[in-house]
Amino acid sequence: MSNPEFVAFLRAYPSYPTTHIIDDLRAAEYARLDVGEHIYLDYTGGGLYAETQVRRHHKLLSEHVFGNPHSSNPSSQASTQLVEHARSYVLKFFGADPNEYDVIFTANASGALKLVGESYPFAKGGHYLLTFDNHNSVNGIREFAHARGAEVTYIPVALPNMRVDASSLDDYFARGQKGAHNLFAFPAQSNFSGVQHPLEWIEKAHAAGWDVLLDAAAFAPTNYLDLSQVHPDFVPLSFYKMFGYPTGIGALIARREALAKLHRPWFAGGTITVVSVQGDKYYLADGHTAFEDGTPDYLNIPAVEIGLKHLESIGYDVIHERVMCLAGWLLDNLVQMKHGTGQPLVRIYGPTNVEARGGSVTVNFFDKDGRAIDHRFIESEANKVNISLRTGCFCNPGAGEVALGLSRVELDVCFTRPDHEQRLSVDDFRLCFDGKSTGAVRISVGMVTNFNDVQAFLSFARGLLG
Ligand SMILES: Cc1ncc(COP(=O)(O)O)c(C=O)c1O
Repeated sequence: MSNPEFVAFLRAYPSYPTTHIIDDLRAAEYARLDVGEHIYLDYTGGGLYAETQVRRHHKLLSEHVFGNPHSSNPSSQASTQLVEHARSYVLKFFGADPNEYDVIFTANASGALKLVGESYPFAKGGHYLLTFDNHNSVNGIREFAHARGAEVTYIPVALPNMRVDASSLDDYFARGQKGAHNLFAFPAQSNFSGVQHPLEWIEKAHAAGWDVLLDAAAFAPTNYLDLSQVHPDFVPLSFYKMFGYPTGIGALIARREALAKLHRPWFAGGTITVVSVQGDKYYLADGHTAFEDGTPDYLNIPAVEIGLKHLESIGYDVIHERVMCLAGWLLDNLVQMKHGTGQPLVRIYGPTNVEARGGSVTVNFFDKDGRAIDHRFIESEANKVNISLRTGCFCNPGAGEVALGLSRVELDVCFTRPDHEQRLSVDDFRLCFDGKSTGAVRISVGMVTNFNDVQAFLSFARGLLG
C-alpha cells in the first residue's frame, strides 16, 4: 500500500509491519469482516473468533461422546478430562502457580464478580474500596458490602486523563481497619477510558492489609496478565472478550488463600461433598468445586482452551504492539480534527497518547459551534456505513459521570424526585440533565483491527466536520 496516509502512519508507528502475521491471519480466518464490509470497532464489547476455533471445537464435538461430568461413566470421564485440562490450561496461560491459584468457571466476568460479592466476609468495620471507573458488575458488589454493614468508598478519577491521583492511595488504604476484611477493586484497564491503572497497586494494597480484586475483563484481550509477577486475590474475566468464542464462559481466577476466606451463601448440585435432608446439614467441597453451581458448561469449556491456544499462536507481543500503533494513530488524528470555526471535533475522555492505556478510545463529538452532538446520532450514522462501535456509558457510570461532568448534586436532585423514587428509565435520566450529554462514543481496536478499519472510522469522523 503506498497511499500517503499509510506512509505517514508507518513513519509515526514504524513497528506496525512487525505485526503483519495478523494481516495474514485476518485474510485467512476473519475473512467475514471484509466480505461483509464490516468495520468492527467494538473489541472491548466482544472479541472476534477465528474460523479455526469454531472448526476445532466442532470437530471435537463431532468425534466424541460427552456426558454430564457429575458421574464416572466413560462419557462423563471424557468431559471431566477436558474441563480439567482447560482449567489447568487457564492457569498455565496466565503464569499462575497451581499451588497458589485456582480457576472457577463462571458464565462471564459478572458471574465471577457476583461470586466474590456474595461470599466475601464483608462486615461492620470492614471496607469495600473501589475506583470510580469500575464496571457495574464491580460496582454492584457494594450492595453486598452495604447489606452487611461494611463501609464503601470510591476513589475518584480526574479529567482529562481519567487517572487516579496516586499520591492519595496511601490515605485510602489507611482507612482499612486492621483485622477487618477489606477489599480493594480496580480495573487493570478501564472499559470507559482505556486507562491502565498500575498493577503495583496490588502489592501496595496487600501491604496495607487489603484483599485485591483486579478486574481483567478489558485488559486481558490485548495485554498479558502475568500472575507469576503480580498476585491479585481475585481476577474476573470473560473469555469471549479475549477471543470471541465461546460466549457464556468466564472465570474467576482466585488465590487459594483468598478463596478459603469466602463463605458461599448457599449450596447447589455439584458444590458439596455431603448434604442431608433429615440432618439439615451440608458440607461444601474444596476449592473451585464449591463455587461451580450445577452442571458446568462442559461442551463449551474445551473451546476456551482452543481460544487460549489461538491467542498464544499469535502472541501478546504482536497483538499489543498492533493495537497500540492503531490506537495511537486514531488518537493522533482525532486530536487534530477541527471545524472551520476552529472548534475541535471531539473531546477525548482519557489519555491522548499511548502510555499506560489500552485500545479503547472514548469521545464525544461537537459541532462547529461547540455544541455536543448526541452519541445516539453518531451511532445511527455509523450504523449506516456498517461501523460497529459502542455508545452510552458502557456500564461504567462512575467514569461516565466524571467525563460528562454530571455532579453529585445534579444526580441527587434527579434521584430524589418523587416520580423517580421507584423507577427511572434511561430517557427520564437523560431529561434530568437536559442539555448535557449522558453518554459517549467508544471506538475500540483489538486483535485483528487493521489500518483500513481505523481509516474508515477517521473518514467517517471527518464527514462530521463543518
Ligand atoms: C472491565 C469490565 N469488567 C467487567 C465486565 C463484565 O463482563 P461480562 O458482561 O462479560 O460479564 C466488562 C464488560 O464489558 C468489562 O469491560
